[in-house]
Amino acid sequence: MSEHFVFPVPASALEGTHCTKEQYDALYEQSINDPDGFWKDQAGRIDWMKPFTKVKNASFSGDISIKWFEDGTLNASANCIDRHLPERANDTAIIWEGDDPADSKHITFSELYEQVCQFANVLKKRGAKKGDRITIYMPMIPEAVYAMLACARIGAVHSVVFGGFSPDALAGRIQDCQSTFVITADEGLRGAKKVPLKANVDTALEQCPDVSSVVVVRRTGGEVAWSEGRDVWYHEAAATVPAECPPEEMSAEDPLFILYTSGSTGKPKGVLHTTGGYMVWAAMTHEYVFDYKQGDIYWCTADVGWVTGHTYIVYGPLANGATTLVFEGIPTYPDAGRFWQVCEKHKVNIFYTAPTAIRALERLGDEFVTKHDRSSIRLLGTVGEPINPEAWLWYHKVVGEERCPIVDTWWQTETGGVMISPLPGATDLKPGSATNPMFGVKPALVDQDGNILEGATSGNLVITDSWPGQMRSVFGDHDRFKQTYFSTYKGMYFTGDGCRRDEDGYYWITGRVDDVINVSGHRMGTAEVESALVEHDLVAEAAVVGFPHDIKGQGIYAYVTLFEGAESSEELRKELVALVRQEIGPIATPDFIQFAPALPKTRSGKIMRRILRKIAENEFGNLGDTSTLADPGVVDDLIENRQNK
Ligand code: WT7
Repeated sequence: MSEHFVFPVPASALEGTHCTKEQYDALYEQSINDPDGFWKDQAGRIDWMKPFTKVKNASFSGDISIKWFEDGTLNASANCIDRHLPERANDTAIIWEGDDPADSKHITFSELYEQVCQFANVLKKRGAKKGDRITIYMPMIPEAVYAMLACARIGAVHSVVFGGFSPDALAGRIQDCQSTFVITADEGLRGAKKVPLKANVDTALEQCPDVSSVVVVRRTGGEVAWSEGRDVWYHEAAATVPAECPPEEMSAEDPLFILYTSGSTGKPKGVLHTTGGYMVWAAMTHEYVFDYKQGDIYWCTADVGWVTGHTYIVYGPLANGATTLVFEGIPTYPDAGRFWQVCEKHKVNIFYTAPTAIRALERLGDEFVTKHDRSSIRLLGTVGEPINPEAWLWYHKVVGEERCPIVDTWWQTETGGVMISPLPGATDLKPGSATNPMFGVKPALVDQDGNILEGATSGNLVITDSWPGQMRSVFGDHDRFKQTYFSTYKGMYFTGDGCRRDEDGYYWITGRVDDVINVSGHRMGTAEVESALVEHDLVAEAAVVGFPHDIKGQGIYAYVTLFEGAESSEELRKELVALVRQEIGPIATPDFIQFAPALPKTRSGKIMRRILRKIAENEFGNLGDTSTLADPGVVDDLIENRQNK
């Protein structure tokens, strides 16, 4: 990378920064050499009901046991609300910006307190208690945040399912964690289109007889079906309960939430996060990565259905007493200037979004950006996938007027919060690099055999020691946790990502090295899409791979083999697309489906995905070694009938 591609820390980012270069170096060093001392200090960000005496107790070998602050007790909702009341009851906790630009409201910390207590009491009155799993399937309205914090308040474990998932996907997640409660809304509203959330819940619950309670928030007032006894309107139930609810005392290692995420094999996994370590990690990273200062208006455009929404819309900012903006809509409604119109309207200081949104907006022209006043913005962030330097430079120049540092934050559902990222006052930026590790994070690059590689090199990214925000297990399946993350390289957490480290020690994430694809920052297991496709009666076999896509980062390319005698047709192609949308949701819609008489396999019957990827990328001139194929003739047909021309 040439010199002019380094963007030094601007003077504006040094003003009142939490962390200069010197401070970063000193703190990072302390976090590695004296973790107990470092984390004891950092844990002071959180209010403990009973202080902990033990900081860290974690092992990446044997049964994999990870505990932080284990004998301390706390409540996450009290940390996000109650403790701010003495000083800041009338400050804004949440700015809600509706889908319709005419719809917005401010919610103070004291209102948040009442709303969350009331929600908690509704849940309690309907029988919810500590340890119960509660599924939340909601649009981006304040009640989604109230519901999460209400669960935390009573010690129930929330499992938020993204509102774009299909009834089948929702049902699978409800069953997996044996959730008996669902919180939803009549309908969602995105880009003036209605999302039938309650109807989806009704369909999902045909497969979930154990769900006894559905709490429905009224958002649009649209017609919904009703199951007497099971369903209750939130506004009716809330009117009958008090607006005070004492927070449950939770042990640091009690579960806070489950969040399902896709892996390279099998069904989505319930990533389990616990309370103490997660809250310390969320609060600390939110402050340092965004250089958050009291009074800042902070906006993360994610949905609470993803981990980004958990940590950087809800828990991190609210633990820090920040004003967090909750946005119901989409970037292109009513027009492609919506993000910047909202920044102007609410004087947003910190703006955090995904590369896919940046690329999509870049295409639509600078005009949509420049017609809005962005002078309030001090800092920009990205997350979800590698950002290509072109998109980074556009974001920096056009959106940030070359004033604003960009924090490219690498992390995962599993890591709970940001792991590798620039700090605005400390790090010289290189477009496309997530740069340096967060405090306490020990990244390493390993070769295929798990040998640690030194210096400027490429390899598979592992983390060699525990950090407080780390997931603790896969819900209900600790073996899968061990298998997925700790069996590839003994004694290390394997991220699934490939990575390069340059001569300055900067990390450049290159993308997944497993069978996970990243479509618009949404993680998808190729196996999940394949299993949806083979549900079809005519489909014998399916293989799904990712290919580079200008806007989405990666697109979905499916190869489908039909049973003997079945005919391929446009009709069938449509049925298959509909099937995938039904099984998973619109985010899994294949871009291309190629009907193939056979798939390339080794003599032992293993599908050679490397070849399928090359063909999907239109790079068939360079297929590499095909000599191990059982039938090399298969490849010619695949090339001839490729779809991505
Ligand atoms: C995967 C995790 C973390 C919240 C959103 C996604 C990719 C994430 C970056 C980044 C390059 C990134 C990785 C990672 N990823 N952020 N800044 N640069 N790649 O969470 O759904 O758990 O996905 O997203 O491949 O493994 P997730």
